[in-house]
Amino acid sequence: MKALRVLLALGIIAACVAAFLYSDGSSTSTASAGALIDLTTSESCRDCHSEVYDEWKSSYHAQSFLDPLVRAKEQSNNFRKVQCIPCHAPAPILERATGKGARVVERFTFREQGVDCLACHKFHDHVAGTQSVSGALAACRPIADERLSRAELCAPCHNQHDTVNEWEASSFHDAGVGCLDCHMPTITRTLPDGRTKQGRSHKFLGGHDLGTLQGALDLKVENLTTDSGEGLLKVSVTNSGAGHNYPADARHRALDLVVTLIQPDGVEVPARDERPPDRQRGTARRRFRNPYRQEASRLTNLETWGRENTQIPSGGTETLEVPYQPEQVVRARIEVFYKLTPYMEDLDSTLVHERVVEL
Ligand code: HEC
Ligand code: HEC
Ligand code: HEC
Ligand code: HEC
Ligand code: HEC
Repeated sequence: MKALRVLLALGIIAACVAAFLYSDGSSTSTASAGALIDLTTSESCRDCHSEVYDEWKSSYHAQSFLDPLVRAKEQSNNFRKVQCIPCHAPAPILERATGKGARVVERFTFREQGVDCLACHKFHDHVAGTQSVSGALAACRPIADERLSRAELCAPCHNQHDTVNEWEASSFHDAGVGCLDCHMPTITRTLPDGRTKQGRSHKFLGGHDLGTLQGALDLKVENLTTDSGEGLLKVSVTNSGAGHNYPADARHRALDLVVTLIQPDGVEVPARDERPPDRQRGTARRRFRNPYRQEASRLTNLETWGRENTQIPSGGTETLEVPYQPEQVVRARIEVFYKLTPYMEDLDSTLVHERVVEL
């Protein structure tokens, strides 16, 4: 009995301490006092938000200034092209302006941290959060800022390649499913004192993550016979799970759908040594990509598919039809490759789907 009462008393004390440490800033005067910590680098957040820090550290946001793909000679040339610095090492977004037209300004300190905590969270003398928290422990003094939960936070950097515009035109937008729902899924966090709360993943998974790529793209294969007795393989891919074009981003990414017909003796059509040098594999293939302005494939796309940009819009389906002679081939291999750059070889890139169909 006595033990129980002690426990109860301890519980009440703990609750009071917690209430003090995490009390809602809006009801106290400390909310406007500003952060009690250094707000110059993401390292200042690490001790108290180690889970978030580790997720962010694993993300491409944390890599954006060190990323070898961005530093390549033909890209930013080690950021000698200074116009590449702002989004890849940005000053705090919220302090300037958010939304599509907003200009991102470069940061002059700790650039190696890329899109750092402060880029999204620093607002002058405190941090912006989803809710206001005050008290001794929440020394960062988060103050609720609704811009943080909206696409307008991502837009200054991510609409250069139309991602936000595409999302606004998608059914996900109409259904109230935003960038955060897909790229910052809710997770349960354990706070330093052992309590748990709902948090948001800071891994920002995208084109580097197989699961994200696979879950959003459906592959359908139909094996038909035409009136004249020929075979017709109809292969279609549907962007069912991305709230914007697939592959997202303007120009670096490419998605290749490759169909390879195989003869009874196992030889592919055309045989490997009969292929043109630029055709690594496949009997037929189709590329989904938004080419650079100067690339000849813009015109080829326009002539062949009626548009320069062949990325698959959200909810859209694209088909590749491959006719075949039933007596000459027995099998088809269907592959979908996701490429971080359009110059990647099939077998060096990410195999999103693979299916073998007996004909
Ligand atoms: C001395 C510890 C401490 C430091 C350092 C610290 N924070 Fe916090 N922070 C907390 C605590 C405690 C909370 C309240 C519990 C929670 O939501 O994680 C909090 C809350 C937050 C929230 C709001 C959470 C919500 O639900 O909206 C954000 C955003 C945040 N911190 C960002 C930062 C950033 C960015 C930094 C680095 C500049 C930082 N914090 C540094 C302790 C700290
Ligand atoms: C200050 C600019 C900036 C802001 C704000 C920003 N991002 Fe990014 N984001 C980048 C840059 C730069 C990269 C590319 C980093 C690289 O790969 O080098 C990137 C990459 C990504 C990726 C791709 C990860 C991968 O695997 O390639 C996703 C997803 C993403 N951001 C989502 C978001 C979302 C959602 C928001 C809004 C909550 C957001 N970003 C806000 C600049 C920003
Ligand atoms: C307006 C903001 C902005 C500017 C300015 C900018 N980038 Fe980016 N960059 C991004 C975002 C956002 C991403 C993430 C994916 C995307 O393209 O949507 C990205 C991704 C990249 C990637 C792909 C990285 C990867 O992981 O594959 C490369 C390469 C790149 N940028 C190069 C450059 C170069 C070169 C410049 C300067 C000529 C530049 N960027 C200027 C916002 C920007
Ligand atoms: C690209 C922008 C971006 C970057 C970079 C970023 N955050 Fe966040 N953060 C957000 C957004 C957006 C939310 C939540 C919005 C919501 O819940 O509506 C958030 C939520 C949080 C929260 C509360 C939710 C949770 O999971 O506990 C904390 C704490 C936090 N961030 C800390 C940090 C820290 C620390 C860093 C750096 C290690 C960081 N953030 C980097 C955009 C960012
Ligand atoms: C319904 C889910 C969903 C929504 C909503 C969504 N995305 Fe995506 N996003 C994905 C999937 C799946 C991918 C990977 C396939 C692709 O590239 O399209 C992706 C890819 C990306 C990439 C490219 C990553 C890379 O490595 O090239 C960026 C950048 C991105 N999203 C940003 C955003 C932004 C900004 C918003 C809000 C305007 C948003 N996304 C809304 C699901 C979503």
